[in-house]
Amino acid sequence: MTETTLPKPPTLPDAQTVLSVQHWTDRLFSFRVTRPASLRFRSGEFVMIGLMGDPDPATGKQKPLLRAYSIASPNWDDALEFYSIKVPDGPLTSRLQHIQPGDQIILRPKPVGTLVHDALLPGKRLWMLATGTGFAPFASLVRDPETYEKFDEIVVMHTCREVGELAYGRTLIEALQDDPLIGEMVAGKLRYYPTTTRDQGEFMGRITDNLASGKVFSDLGLPPMDPATDRAMVCGSLAFNKDVMAILDGFGLREGANSEPAEYVVEKAFVG
Ligand code: A2P
Repeated sequence: MTETTLPKPPTLPDAQTVLSVQHWTDRLFSFRVTRPASLRFRSGEFVMIGLMGDPDPATGKQKPLLRAYSIASPNWDDALEFYSIKVPDGPLTSRLQHIQPGDQIILRPKPVGTLVHDALLPGKRLWMLATGTGFAPFASLVRDPETYEKFDEIVVMHTCREVGELAYGRTLIEALQDDPLIGEMVAGKLRYYPTTTRDQGEFMGRITDNLASGKVFSDLGLPPMDPATDRAMVCGSLAFNKDVMAILDGFGLREGANSEPAEYVVEKAFVG
């Protein structure tokens, strides 16, 4: 019997399969992909993901188009979740927004990042401060039992321009109460403080303003931040991160890193 060798279909390097996609607004979506069996990560870390770029007109070669994305799922989850903006002219997200279950994406399995428990000194209360898609690493951390083992209280402040943009975070946080794994740990420990800045919502205003004025402390019945008890993780635009850092510095908190844990850590949210 003669054996014929069929040409192999092209396979992407580090390919993972899309399992589900959910569109939250015309600018925001989340999706789940298969998790490489060997991938270990700390909740809050990010990886590079993307798609193959268009062929180079001169050489015909394709290069991967990759961006840093926080892993939004916790480290115990079988699949990996990501939360993304859709930028109409964005080289990656203009295409990524059209992925469907069964499609493949590229995922480089090298997780890194500073929004991890190891980079913070022990404390009593953990503040998660996010704007827009900066919520993604916190979607991972609020679903990690370690967060509730390490802190007595967790306050999630998430600010978006419009109410609809809070939907992913709100849905996820509301579902936590009934989560069979961590529902009991979350009860009474997780405080959620979503605000909008350009749309009438229950709570309004920029995170920076609500911290600086003390409004969030009085709304939640908490004392002002204190380096002896409070820790913070920050994820948003460059301008947001810079402005929040100045406020945290004002409360006497210092920036930490994996190599030198302290009272707060910062990471830039994925934007394009
Ligand atoms: P605002 O509507 O007042 O600009 P963006 O979509 O531009 O990234 O903003 C997301 C959210 O972050 C918006 O609610 C925006 O408020 C807020 N924001 C943007 N820049 C800052 C900043 N430097 N400090 C605090 N909040 C900010």
